[in-house]
Amino acid sequence: MCGIVGAIAAREVSAILLEGQRRLEYRGYDSAGMAVFDGQELNRLRRAGKVQQLADALGSDPLHGHLGIAHTRWATHGQPNERNAHPHMSGERLAVVHNGIIENYATFKAELKDKGYVFTSDTDTEVIAHLLSEALKLESDLYAAFRQVINQLEGAFALGVIHADYPELLLCARKGSPLVIGVGMGENFIGSDPLALLQVTDRFIYLNEGDTACVSREQIEVRNARGEVQALDIKRYEHGTQSADKGQYKHYMLKEIFEQPGVIQATLNGRVGKGEINTQLFGDSAQQLMDSVQAVQIIACGTSYHAGMVARYWIEELAGIPCQVEIASEYRYRKTITLPNTLFVTISQSGETADTLAALRVAKERGALASLAICNVPGSSLVRESDLCLMTQAGPEIGVASTKAFTTQLSALMVLTLSLAKTRGLDSTLEAELTDALTTLPAKVEEVLALSQRVEQLATHFADKQHSLFLGRGALYPIALEGALKLKEISYIHAEAYPAGELKHGPLALVDSEMPVITVAPGNELLEKLKSNMQEVRARGGELYVFADQHAGIEDQEGYHILHLPKIHPLLEPILYTVPLQLLSYYVAVIRGTDVDQPRNLAKSVTVE
Ligand code: G6P
Repeated sequence: MCGIVGAIAAREVSAILLEGQRRLEYRGYDSAGMAVFDGQELNRLRRAGKVQQLADALGSDPLHGHLGIAHTRWATHGQPNERNAHPHMSGERLAVVHNGIIENYATFKAELKDKGYVFTSDTDTEVIAHLLSEALKLESDLYAAFRQVINQLEGAFALGVIHADYPELLLCARKGSPLVIGVGMGENFIGSDPLALLQVTDRFIYLNEGDTACVSREQIEVRNARGEVQALDIKRYEHGTQSADKGQYKHYMLKEIFEQPGVIQATLNGRVGKGEINTQLFGDSAQQLMDSVQAVQIIACGTSYHAGMVARYWIEELAGIPCQVEIASEYRYRKTITLPNTLFVTISQSGETADTLAALRVAKERGALASLAICNVPGSSLVRESDLCLMTQAGPEIGVASTKAFTTQLSALMVLTLSLAKTRGLDSTLEAELTDALTTLPAKVEEVLALSQRVEQLATHFADKQHSLFLGRGALYPIALEGALKLKEISYIHAEAYPAGELKHGPLALVDSEMPVITVAPGNELLEKLKSNMQEVRARGGELYVFADQHAGIEDQEGYHILHLPKIHPLLEPILYTVPLQLLSYYVAVIRGTDVDQPRNLAKSVTVE
């Protein structure tokens, strides 16, 4: 969640920190702050609201210096106001930025108050600053004192620390929340995400769980949780083809929706050949392992969970392997039964989602055969901790509401399914049909994007609505869930999704002329049943918005608003039918004037549980 950036350099650092904060704003955007040492004093500036508020304040009250830390916040403890914004200080000379939650902060807070420390915020972070002040009374080595404090903290965190009496040092730590060190020439940086630091370097050290680091302009020392000095493993960041700016588009979300044909293609490249699927997705040595898989357990959160739900339909139908899907925060705390030879699949755009990572660690203890991450970020924690990975090629996704990450996850999951299925006797005609269909998928998505104006018209009917219902059947049910999630995330319209067969078991009671019912109606074998469900909605005065196959025989009539979509292989319908639902939410949100890319209360990367 929150974003951390820090710098130690010969040049002025505040502009670097501010640019880093802008790039990290997707992680949280309720307040922002910066502390910079000017050679004599540690000066701090904080503002409630977005990074722009801080930038405006810096315009009239600049911070100068060569050592600094900065933060964008997503509130956990304490309201999103200026007094709770980071950095937090102990006295005038020590500043801390923090991402995560300190679970045992209340005990420390009471003890520190007894010792005379005065708290000026409601955050858990402030105890870290005071604990460090306290430790420095007995230990004059700042890094040693910092490590003593870290050893006392329970919970998940990433930290950055500076002290005016140690102007040549920038300290950081990682336990449960991501942190990288950006390596420069005579200057070094820290950040929650390499994206924040690509403005200044493309060489990174990814801290491992429990690592701390002491960074100066010329040197970097990393120690593990036991305090042992680690060899430095500097990795060069691989730039994708997508840029991280908005280009001609009004919002990142719209840009990312329109990037889908290209990124789906990139995700399929090298994995889908002419008429056949590549079964060597993970190399020779892993193939034996994949052949012994007898069950699949998928774990994810949010949109990624919906991708997993679709994959269950595919894996059971095509590969004939039992597949379970569960939300990570449920799986990790539940007593589960791991079937023999279970492949444990995590799906995550960021690779840093706290619950998904924790579930992976739990699965290892529960005896999964192997772990496989479907992920969009190469150096992420999830990728590093999994046995195997299948990377999506979505490029940076900045809009908080996930779009291209989802369709590339689905594309990768179809590749995985076909690869599992092929070694288990997939019919070669079906293999050829599906690989051909995958080859045409980017062009079909392009055709759907060309319908965006028509979707924009449909959106005008929603602008004043408070509630909505999404219906789908089979593998299109998770797509209805994803459509509802998109709409609620960015337009704040209450949206619920149901498998259409459940309509009579409750939701029909809500249907009247004020309740738009959005239906995904492809041309598959469940179409006739879905048509009956639509009749039931119409009979109660509900207005239907139907995304239908052009050959489904569903035409515009009273109470029906139809958007015809191109024909595609039924197994790929979930990917294609996602796109108009993304566009619909986008245009509804634009009409309602919400903050499309940074919807209220949400964050892109959820690194706290
Ligand atoms: C947040 C994001 C969603 C995302 C979910 C899971 O809620 O706003 O867009 O689907 O986290 O994130 P992950 O990075 O694990 O896919």
